[in-house]
Amino acid sequence: MGTGDAVLKTKKFIKNNYFLMLLPDDLIIKKNCSKDMIKIHKKFKGSVMASMKVKKNNVDRWGIYSIKKNIDKLNFKIADVIEKPNTKDAPSNNAVIGRYILSKKIFHYLKNQKKGKGGEIHITDAIRRMILDQYLFIGHKFRGNYLDCGSMKGYIKSGIEISKL
Ligand code: G1P
Repeated sequence: MGTGDAVLKTKKFIKNNYFLMLLPDDLIIKKNCSKDMIKIHKKFKGSVMASMKVKKNNVDRWGIYSIKKNIDKLNFKIADVIEKPNTKDAPSNNAVIGRYILSKKIFHYLKNQKKGKGGEIHITDAIRRMILDQYLFIGHKFRGNYLDCGSMKGYIKSGIEISKL
């Protein structure tokens, strides 16, 4: 039913107030992105999403966010996020990459999350509602190399890169 529905199914396993969620088709190598995100979470006490800039004509493959305020060179306070917008509706080319530190309050939002783009229940749509309710979400421009397994070309290239490690 979508990423949001999948996350909702983990509710009974989450004991802490925040949890780390990784999508398996977004690999980041050479640097420990999760560790960096945990540090940021501890400092700012909010949710964190990994991010990078994508090509403007590719924004419809990603969750895209707009920035409210720059915290520093790598971290941004998020103003809004939209799931897979058209190029003309995209607020920027800052894409969400599949690594999130989320508050368990997200489950409350996911429980009644309506279907969105493509008829799926998106984690992005629940995050958007939390941002509107003033929860802090930080976009973290990660260090390290991104391997995109979400396209056939990217998947093959990722296999080659991983074999070199
Ligand atoms: C999911 C999210 C999207 C995010 C992307 C990162 O999309 O819904 O917001 O940008 O992962 O890879 P999916 O790749 O499952 O279509």
